[in-house]
Amino acid sequence: MGDIQYDFAMVGLGVMGCNLLLNMADKGYAAIGYDKNPDKTSAFEASGTPGTVIKGVNSLETMVGLLKKPRKIMMLVPAGSPVDSVIEDLIPLLDKDDIVIDGGNSHYTDTLRRIGSLKDKGFHFMGIGISGGEEGARRGPSIMPGGDEGAYKQVEPILKAVSAKVGDDPCVAYLGKEAAGHYVKMVHNGIEYSIMQLISECYDLLHTAMDYSNEDLHRLFASWDQGPMKSFLLEITAAIFARKDDKPTSNYLVDMILDRAGAKGTGQWTSQEGLDLPMPIPNIDTAVMMRNLSSLLEQRLLASEIYSGPTPKISLPRAEVESLLFDAFYLATVLSYAQGLALLTRASAERKMEIPMWDVVSVWRGGCIIRSALLENFREAYKNPALANLLLDPPIASMVKPLEKGLAQIVQLAARHGIPAPGLMSALNYYHAYRRKTLPTNLIQAQRDFFGAHTYQRIDQPGIFHTQW
Ligand code: 6PG
Repeated sequence: MGDIQYDFAMVGLGVMGCNLLLNMADKGYAAIGYDKNPDKTSAFEASGTPGTVIKGVNSLETMVGLLKKPRKIMMLVPAGSPVDSVIEDLIPLLDKDDIVIDGGNSHYTDTLRRIGSLKDKGFHFMGIGISGGEEGARRGPSIMPGGDEGAYKQVEPILKAVSAKVGDDPCVAYLGKEAAGHYVKMVHNGIEYSIMQLISECYDLLHTAMDYSNEDLHRLFASWDQGPMKSFLLEITAAIFARKDDKPTSNYLVDMILDRAGAKGTGQWTSQEGLDLPMPIPNIDTAVMMRNLSSLLEQRLLASEIYSGPTPKISLPRAEVESLLFDAFYLATVLSYAQGLALLTRASAERKMEIPMWDVVSVWRGGCIIRSALLENFREAYKNPALANLLLDPPIASMVKPLEKGLAQIVQLAARHGIPAPGLMSALNYYHAYRRKTLPTNLIQAQRDFFGAHTYQRIDQPGIFHTQW
């Protein structure tokens, strides 16, 4: 095996790196992986499919020496300084035109900086978003590449081979200039946060206010997963409600999990971008806020002793609430995508990324965490590349209009019975505000001019005005 020149290298053989590299080997590529931990390289070599060409090494120099030129090297290491230190170690070993790819969840501004500094040294650097977790990496993830298009063309056949497929379509496409790959992945995660928050609110309402058992919840989410919103997140939610604890109890596992949500930062980054651009994405903001609020465990305990709240028991028939909740979740889910995609559209122009929106929604149809049957509808809508917001697409409008009543009734029920439903409520407010020809912000302008001479515009004539109030 000494003379083999490998097609592709992976730096970092954690769960994602190891599985993606094994996936490449399964597709016929000679794959070499580096990890400083010998246990990881041995585990990688032991998990290869018989007949595939793989090798694990503990020296970057050896890895680089065994690669075909121009070298194609992906890093899957934790975002932040680990990425910079791998780049620093690689640079002296590389030749001009070698391609270095960051496949992790890096902040797009870090990617921009790295593109610049590696270009100056004659290397190609690409930020690529990869979604689908462990199973996705092994069997077919959704891949979101951006940046250097020439470099993309060179890795395109490998990425297409390993990606998820929808029919014959590979879930990978060139998604724009600069740091577009990581930007698109960041927004993907923001939408992921929002939909997860909405599902948790549906769970809370049914479980806390209507005494749904885990079996009932399993049945309901599994049935939703058969309909127009068929999705990965509904599928795993249904599975979660069927799962018993292995040990030490025989309870349902979900009941044994502490209600404090973790976060690695991509949702928060999306929210920050929403503020910076600006583009309103209240559902993503709300999802981030609720994860943060969930971690105030001790304060919540104290507050629960001070504030009793209204009775959480809803006495309406189950079938009626399920039908309303289905519509509410449906509309709020569409609005979560609408907000995230509107942010991407704005960012594409503002940050000069030229993101092809039709390709984004096409790539999200398979392999990723937010894959859903709804993406087919959004794909139709983005045949119009100038679409500013999904809600402005006539077929989407026909889809969402009948759902408004359900969302409004669920929000009322939740408010009346003291069940927090901030995601559903944000969605309804966004919908009501976005579809309004006039908003009360004329008053805000008047107030600003009153106390700060900030000026205002008029509805009947052009120009800037100030009044001595
Ligand atoms: C994916 C996921 C993946 C990761 C999230 C989790 O698309 O495969 O989004 O990237 O699971 O980053 O994020 P939090 O830890 O912030 O929930």
